[in-house]
Amino acid sequence: MHITRFVILLFCHRLPKGCDGSVLINSTSNNQAEKDGPPNLSLRGFQVIDAAKTAVEAACPGVVSCADILALVARDAIQQIKGPFWPVPLGRRDGRVSIASESLTQLPAPFANITQLKAQFASKGLNVKDLAVLSGGHTVGVSHCSTIATRLYNFTGKGDTDPSLDPRYVPKLKSICFPTDKTTLLSMDPGSSKTFDEDYYSVVLKRRGLFESDAALLNDKITSAYVKLQAQSHGKTFFKDFQDSMVKMGKIGVLTGKAGEIRRHCAVIN
Ligand code: HEM
Ligand SMILES: *[C@@H]1O[C@H](CO)[C@@H](O)[C@H](O)[C@H]1NC(C)=O
Ligand SMILES: *[C@@H]1O[C@H](CO)[C@@H](O)[C@H](O)[C@H]1NC(C)=O
Ligand SMILES: *[C@@H]1O[C@H](CO)[C@@H](O)[C@H](O)[C@H]1NC(C)=O
Ligand SMILES: *[C@@H]1O[C@H](CO)[C@@H](O)[C@H](O)[C@H]1NC(C)=O
Repeated sequence: MHITRFVILLFCHRLPKGCDGSVLINSTSNNQAEKDGPPNLSLRGFQVIDAAKTAVEAACPGVVSCADILALVARDAIQQIKGPFWPVPLGRRDGRVSIASESLTQLPAPFANITQLKAQFASKGLNVKDLAVLSGGHTVGVSHCSTIATRLYNFTGKGDTDPSLDPRYVPKLKSICFPTDKTTLLSMDPGSSKTFDEDYYSVVLKRRGLFESDAALLNDKITSAYVKLQAQSHGKTFFKDFQDSMVKMGKIGVLTGKAGEIRRHCAVIN
C-alpha cells in the first residue's frame, strides 16, 4: 500500500527530463542527481522499480527500459488502489543525464499559482484540462507539514494564514502541524487517502486542498469548471480523463531509436 503511492509520485513528479527514467539515477561523486535535488521530500519506492527490473533482466536482458518499467508500475499501482487501468504505450529508452537543479526549475512548486502551473504544463505539451485532471493524482497520499507551514503560519510574512484556505479547516491543520514541524504527515484526501477516487475535487471545492497549487485550480475558468463537474457528478468522467492524460504525460520527453540506452541497473548509467 505504501509502496503504491510512492511509485505514483515517482512517475507523476518526474517531469524535469520527461519519461526517461532520470529520476531513478543515483548521484555520483561528480554529479548530484534529480533524486537528491531540493524537491525530493517524498521520493521513495525506488526498490520496487529495481526489483521489477531485476526480474525483467533475468528473463530478457537489455530489452526493457527503466522508463517503461516506471510507467507500467505506476499504472499498476493506481489500478491496485481501485483506480483506472489503461494500456501503456512502450518503447521508451533511458536517459543518461540526471541533474538535481533541474527539478527546482522544471517541476511545478506546491506554491505555484494558476498562471505558473498552466505555463509549466504547457511547456511539456499538457493543456489546461490535463492540469485539472492530473492534479487529481492528489486523491492519494500525504504531504509533509513543512510543505504547507508558510501557508498556515506566515503566508505574507505577517504571521497570517492563506485566506484561500477554508477558515474552518485551518484550526484542524494547525493542531496537526506546528510551525517548525518537519516530520508529521497530512493526508491530501482525508478519509480516503489510500483509494484512488474523485474525492480530491470535493476537497478542492471545499477549499481544503493542501497546496496553493490545488487551490489555484479554482482560479481559472476551465480548471474550476472541471473541479465542480467532478465534485458534483461523483467523478463521472474522471477515470477516463485520467487515463488519457496519463498516456499523454507518459509521452513527455521520450527517447527512442538510438537516443539514450537501456540501463542495466535503473540507478546507474551504463
Ligand atoms: C500540479 C502540479 C503538482 C504539484 C505542484 C505537486 C506537488 C506535490 C507535493 C508538494 C507533494 C508532497 C510533498 C511532501 O510534502 O511530501 C505531492 C505529493 C504527491 N503527489 Fe503531487 N504535485 C503535482 C502533480 C501531481 C501529479 C500529476 C500526480 C499524479 C498523477 C501527483 C501525485 C502525487 C502523489 C501520489 C503524492 C503523495 C506521495 C506520498 O504519499 O508520499 N502529483 N505533490
Ligand atoms: C534528498 O536529497 C538529499 C541531498 O540533497 C539527500 O540527502 C536525501 O537522501 C534525499 N532524499 C530522498 C528521499 O531521496
Ligand atoms: C503568479 O506568480 C508570478 C510569479 O511570482 C507573478 O508574476 C504573477 O503575477 C502571479 N499571477 C497570479 C495570477 O497570481
Ligand atoms: C515570517 O516571514 C517574515 C518575512 O519573510 C520573516 O521575517 C519572519 O521571521 C517569519 N516569521 C516566522 C515565525 O517564521
Ligand atoms: C543507489 O542508491 C541507493 C541509496 O543510496 C542504494 O541503496 C543503492 O544500492 C544504489 N544503487 C546502485 C545500483 O548503486
